Amino acid sequence: MKRIAVLISGFGSNLQAIIDAIAEGRLPGVEIAVVVSNRRDAYGLERARRAGIPTEYHPFRPYRDAGRTRQEYDADLAEILQRYAVDWVVMAGWMHVLSDAFLRHFPNRVINLHPALPEMFPGTNAIPRAYEAYRRGEISHTGVMVHLVPDEAVDAGPVILQEAVPIYPEDTLESLEGRIHQVEHRLLVEAIRRVVGDDDRLPER
Ligand code: GRF
Repeated sequence: MKRIAVLISGFGSNLQAIIDAIAEGRLPGVEIAVVVSNRRDAYGLERARRAGIPTEYHPFRPYRDAGRTRQEYDADLAEILQRYAVDWVVMAGWMHVLSDAFLRHFPNRVINLHPALPEMFPGTNAIPRAYEAYRRGEISHTGVMVHLVPDEAVDAGPVILQEAVPIYPEDTLESLEGRIHQVEHRLLVEAIRRVVGDDDRLPER
């Protein structure tokens, strides 16, 4: 079995998509070893508990308040995952940028989900930024990508899967978000199935 850690910060609907895929036999050979959140109130923690999956809460604030660095926080996060013998790390709505202090422990074994197409809207609030760009007539569609995280570049890295998501004139931000999340849930599971299930064939770094 390949053991994955899922890093979350919020609602956890993408985590739920992975939980459901495993329960329904759509992710053979994969198990969630631990779910980690940097926010205590992340509903995704409740989803993990309900599925009987171990959870860890790893906030940054105590590090900042103690004058400790992001690198120390990231190194401790890697140590937590190593305690669970994790093979792969899946960032599903994780809102921190992971530094090399973390990534070097999981070379070419970190996956990130981002609700935009490559090089379009890196960073936070990608969906509202795409929605506004569409209303300004700058783009005709947006998309979702799942990519490897070889280094500290934000929402970049070798793309495992990407899919365009149409935007329609009658769309509200909410209707676009709903369409994007549906694609995310399907694409993330498919990307995990491809790379984790068969992790000796990886996209070039
Ligand atoms: C998703 O759009 C994810 O791509 C982005 O934040 C959202 C998290 O959704 N980073 P959820 O917490 O998985 O429901």
